[in-house]
Amino acid sequence: MHNYKELLSLFESKLEKEIETTGHRQPKYLYEPVAYTLKAGGKRIRPVLLLMAHELYNNQLEKAIPAAIAIEMFHNFTLLHDDIMDNASLRRNNETVHVKYSYNTAILSGDAMSILSYEYLNRVDSKNFREIFSIFTNTALKICEGQQFDMDFENQNTVTVDNYLDMIGMKTAVLIAASLKIGALTANAPMHEANLLYEFGYNLGMAFQLRDDYLDTFGNTHTFGKKIGGDIVSNKKTYLMLKALELANDELSTKLRALMENAAISADIKIKQVISVYEQLDVAKLTIDKMEEYYQKALLCWENLNVSNNQKQELLLLANTMMNRTN
Ligand code: IPE
Ligand code: IPE
Ligand code: MG
Ligand code: MG
Ligand code: MG
Repeated sequence: MHNYKELLSLFESKLEKEIETTGHRQPKYLYEPVAYTLKAGGKRIRPVLLLMAHELYNNQLEKAIPAAIAIEMFHNFTLLHDDIMDNASLRRNNETVHVKYSYNTAILSGDAMSILSYEYLNRVDSKNFREIFSIFTNTALKICEGQQFDMDFENQNTVTVDNYLDMIGMKTAVLIAASLKIGALTANAPMHEANLLYEFGYNLGMAFQLRDDYLDTFGNTHTFGKKIGGDIVSNKKTYLMLKALELANDELSTKLRALMENAAISADIKIKQVISVYEQLDVAKLTIDKMEEYYQKALLCWENLNVSNNQKQELLLLANTMMNRTN
């Protein structure tokens, strides 16, 4: 069983070749932003999880590479459009595509990446191809649904924690879950195992997004690679915000709602003031507790996987890294 670092370097070498060819295609301003995005790195957790899931049941990693590239390409496409929707200027410590190039470029290069991801998916050589294709498509649509709810919630003040959990399940957890299930299917694993990996990934993905929300407020820009406080500025209904609204007394609740409604306030002051409420209510700890709760659910699935502990150890180590991440 290979570890995260080894699979990452295998994946990077395969992706590198694809970036080389794609990056030089014409028109330049359609494909150059694709290469710009893919070259900026990122953790590559989805393709690596896919390869790890594959390797639990079959050691021919080559068979899983096209699906791994398809997933990473699709993930990066969602980031281009997400950064427009979230008005984000920094990603992976680089200018976002709509800032560096233009909004129109980010839309169209994003579209191209989404289509390219299907081209890679089509290279999957497996008797499970139809199943894999259908998981990929259902997942892609769920992400759009989650992203729309995420934006809708910015303008709603009746969002519940359950609404939030459903929304992050769609925008984030399903792709992590699908990566693991597809990896198992390219290895012809039993369906029961593939489904267990899906459930493992879903819970891990929930925890992953909770940590993302935590880092967006309490992380460090340089290590996180994104601007801190973006969620606060956009009135995102994150777990932090929903818990704060739930626990706030009248005074704090009025303050939070006024901050969200004040369109004239500067971003820096809004961020500072919201963080001060978060600190008074200790919502950072509550968010990490919730993350831990999902991680424990993921662990139960991991324990039930029908492969030796020795074989599945690396998967656990990666899941653990994801929970402690600062980037
Ligand atoms: C960012 O995903 C979007 C979320 C689901 C939080 P990652 O944190 O995996 O981003 P990269 O690919 O490593 O940059
Ligand atoms: C991630 O949500 C969901 C998708 C990109 C589909 P975020 O908006 O929190 O992701 P980041 O923080 O910008 O990476
Ligand atoms: Mg975003
Ligand atoms: Mg977003
Ligand atoms: Mg985020």
